[in-house]
Amino acid sequence: MTFSIALAGKGGVGKTTIAGLLIKYLVAKGKTPILAVDADSNANLNEVLGLEVKDTLGQAREDMKKGKVPPGMTKDIFMSMRMEEAVAEEEGFDLVVMGTPEGAGCYCAANTLLAGFLEKLVNNYAYVVMDNEAGMEHISRLTTKNVDLLLIVADTSRRGLQAGLRINKLASELNIGVGKSYLIVNQAKTDMLPDEVTAAISDDGLELAGIIPQDDAVYEYDLKGKPTIEIAQDSPSVKAAFDLFDRILGQPA
Ligand SMILES: Nc1ncnc2c1ncn2[C@@H]1O[C@H](COP(=O)(O)OP(=O)(O)OP(=O)(O)O)[C@@H](O)[C@H]1O
Ligand SMILES: [Mg+2]
Repeated sequence: MTFSIALAGKGGVGKTTIAGLLIKYLVAKGKTPILAVDADSNANLNEVLGLEVKDTLGQAREDMKKGKVPPGMTKDIFMSMRMEEAVAEEEGFDLVVMGTPEGAGCYCAANTLLAGFLEKLVNNYAYVVMDNEAGMEHISRLTTKNVDLLLIVADTSRRGLQAGLRINKLASELNIGVGKSYLIVNQAKTDMLPDEVTAAISDDGLELAGIIPQDDAVYEYDLKGKPTIEIAQDSPSVKAAFDLFDRILGQPA
């Protein structure tokens, strides 16, 4: 059985960073193999993971639609070749990038092949970690259907938190099939949240998984273009993230 984890939240709160820290955690705990899915059309999870991406599923779909299938090759074979190529491999985890969403016109045939491929692909992994685009619309898309764990990331700002609570509400209304959701407060400047914040979270019935501090190491790695996943184990954000994941994922999946 594959255990799927999706990240959601307002823009720039740290979804991709936390997806990277989660993959670092799962690899360290031997909870492998993992499939990382970058479902953000402005894909950058590969940078956090230090992987080069040669192709995206969206590009394969686009090329099939445009009839770029070589003569003598069936569309099925073309798509399966391209989709295989779009899976980047690393020790313990693979990454697949969804790419830009479809344009106008009918992508039905390509989408059917793509959906079939994804379904088979996902079954090869113990864990799937899905990094999503900012906002709430995304949550209603196919990519976030049936997640075992929804991690809603917020910063300590009032608006960040409100966005997080709205996402949680939307997820329950849409009936997406979320096993469990947690809030993660990221880039915190103190160890403790103000009482007002804690109260607002529990009033909404959302459970706080924990807080991850503002960490200069994250900022510096980002600035230098170094993969976040390589940050030292003893840095504050990694320690906090590992403790947090131990609490919510500690038990065997
Ligand atoms: N705990 C942290 N400490 C310091 N900097 C952080 C922390 N978490 C994230 N950042 C920085 O904040 C910025 C935004 O983070 P990230 O890209 O992970 O957010 P996002 O929610 O995925 O954004 P988007 O909505 O654009 O996809 C990055 O520059 C990242 O390095
Ligand atoms: Mg992101």
